[in-house]
Amino acid sequence: MADSVLKLDGVSKLYDGATPFLALDRISLDIRSGELLAIVGPSGSGKSTLLHLLGCLDRPTAGEIYLDGKAISKMSDDEVADIRRDTIGFVFQAFNLAPTLTVFKNVELPLMIRGMPKPERHERTMRNLETVGLIDKKDSMPSQLSGGQKQRVAIARALANDPKIILADEPTGNLDSVTSEEIINSMLALRKDHGITVILVTHDAGLADRTDRIVRIKDGRIEKDSANKSDRRRS
Ligand SMILES: Nc1ncnc2c1ncn2[C@@H]1O[C@H](COP(=O)(O)OP(=O)(O)OP(=O)(O)O)[C@@H](O)[C@H]1O
Ligand SMILES: [Mg+2]
Repeated sequence: MADSVLKLDGVSKLYDGATPFLALDRISLDIRSGELLAIVGPSGSGKSTLLHLLGCLDRPTAGEIYLDGKAISKMSDDEVADIRRDTIGFVFQAFNLAPTLTVFKNVELPLMIRGMPKPERHERTMRNLETVGLIDKKDSMPSQLSGGQKQRVAIARALANDPKIILADEPTGNLDSVTSEEIINSMLALRKDHGITVILVTHDAGLADRTDRIVRIKDGRIEKDSANKSDRRRS
């Protein structure tokens, strides 16, 4: 069996406030390297909360999260920020593309910020654009792209730090089924070309059906965690 990249052991999240709310209740989950996993469930069930914890953007109020076998609770906030920057790429629904930069520049920008030298940067940018099938749009502006193409730029950009894990919250959002197909193909390519572990939250049954494993959340608990035997997932 492949190595565990992310492991949750009895993780709970209590949102404190006037009316405290237990958004996650003792979640245990072991995610293995190279897995493509979908988190599904009704609105308010705790999917985004879970994704935030998996991305170490937030800490649990109980239980432990292990990233690459290392317990997060034992790390300082700075250490967590470092390991997150080096390990995880995020794709959230608001694409947050820079409107005045070309597709190429949008994907190149985080590499520039990291101080990567130009030749290497260009090669990497082209490789990441190729992964999401957008080489032909590299000189376009974001405003000239479809919703699915914008999302793919966001995916290519999330590859900047060569992440082991990509986390995506509703990557197909309100996109139509053909566009959703583009996104899932890009997600499949992440694993195939880069060996990346992909964890996505989705309401899209068609998308979930293409993954290896579906974790269903209800009222902050895992209702079902099943391997997906669908033949469609690798096509
Ligand atoms: N900062 C917060 N303070 C208090 N309660 C919160 C906070 N954030 C989320 N919640 C509550 O926690 C629960 C889980 O929220 P979460 O955003 O994880 O749901 P979700 O499954 O992603 O829903 P959706 O499908 O609508 O995006 C909800 O009942 C929500 O109201
Ligand atoms: Mg959500």
